[in-house]
Amino acid sequence: MAVQRTFSIIKPDATRRNLTGKINALLEAGGLRIVAQKRIWMTKGQAEAFYGVHKERPFFGSLVAFMTSGPVVVQVLEGEDAVAKNREIMGATNPANAAEGTIRKTFAESIEANSAHGSDSIENAAIEIAYFFSGLEIVG
Ligand code: CMP
Repeated sequence: MAVQRTFSIIKPDATRRNLTGKINALLEAGGLRIVAQKRIWMTKGQAEAFYGVHKERPFFGSLVAFMTSGPVVVQVLEGEDAVAKNREIMGATNPANAAEGTIRKTFAESIEANSAHGSDSIENAAIEIAYFFSGLEIVG
């Protein structure tokens, strides 16, 4: 295993309920280090481009509306096997299928309002990190 970086979003359902610290505690307890973090309110265009891979899916419009409904916290996480580790800490996309103790099992409201996003591959992590952060903002 190697030290990797992955990209994470704490979604509007979680910021609305003031859960940023509780979610960060789970990330840190799982061995990930938050090496960059900022709170932003995504524009429609930013959310559409970020989720462009899903643009043909029936939930795309609703997903973009949800992701622009309030602030999010975008993050870069670093650690051993960080992409897979973060997905393990988040749990399954649908909270009904997520394991006990995961972010989504503990906090998610629905498959859409599922509290967190995490990159699904090292390649996508690099793309997603570069979409929101400059190198100067990442301090390992
Ligand atoms: P995320 O990991 O951010 O990637 C795509 C998002 O689409 C997903 O989390 C969910 O928030 C949202 N979504 C809404 N409906 C679905 C669905 N039926 N299947 C997968 N993702 C969905």
